[in-house]
Amino acid sequence: MSTTPIIYLKDADIYQRNFLVLNEVDFEMQPGEFAYLIGKTGSGKSSLLKVLYGDLPLQTGEGEVAGINLENLTTSKIPYLRRKLGIVFQDFQLLSDRTIEKNLKFVLQATGWKTKVEIENRIDQVLEDVNMATKKHKMPHQLSGGEQQRISIARALLNHPELILADEPTGNLDPETSIEIMNLLRRVSEEHNMAVLMATHDYSLIRKFPSKTFRCENGKVIVAESQSLFLEM
Ligand SMILES: Nc1ncnc2c1ncn2[C@@H]1O[C@H](COP(=O)(O)OP(=O)(O)O)[C@@H](O)[C@H]1O
Ligand SMILES: [Mg+2]
Repeated sequence: MSTTPIIYLKDADIYQRNFLVLNEVDFEMQPGEFAYLIGKTGSGKSSLLKVLYGDLPLQTGEGEVAGINLENLTTSKIPYLRRKLGIVFQDFQLLSDRTIEKNLKFVLQATGWKTKVEIENRIDQVLEDVNMATKKHKMPHQLSGGEQQRISIARALLNHPELILADEPTGNLDPETSIEIMNLLRRVSEEHNMAVLMATHDYSLIRKFPSKTFRCENGKVIVAESQSLFLEM
């Protein structure tokens, strides 16, 4: 029995303005799968992720993410797509002027949550999920980089996404903290049967936690053979 892929791109061209970054991309990920996206700086990793979360238009080709069609994705449909995804960035992107609790509350309210008790309960659940329950009343600047990234993963989990898109989530972290964040991402992926696509250029992480790996290279996205991967390390 075949399942519907969580990510599907067929003959997709990905542009930044008029510049063709990736061409004729065929890409598929299954529900619950964990995969890496690698490639040199400027090879198109972030651009690909941006198409998947509706920040760049899919100009030609077919595309579907979590059941949402990316072709002719209108501005009004983008919030609907975003609610099905969790997005994690290298620089955490927490709102610096409010507590962790209020950061999370802000996202829930912006995505339509209304009931106070449900909001409070969901915040407590995601904070427990990332082992940050005791940090609820802290301000972002009072937390370490690794802790801030845990909070941003908690934020990504709020709406029970089927997919997390992570753009170099360990890029600002030391090696030890990077491993903790990887363990966290892999655990939540397994526990919630959530697919994760993670852009990274940290080969030591891939070596430690081998998984399917896509590579952006010369305007193409290819599945990287593990052998060639290990040769580069
Ligand atoms: N906002 C932008 N406007 C124009 N070109 C961009 C923009 N962002 C990225 N690019 C170009 O698109 C290409 C791919 O960049 P990017 O997707 O950020 O690669 P990566 O994430 O792999 O480093 C690069 O040539 C980059 O210069
Ligand atoms: Mg990038």
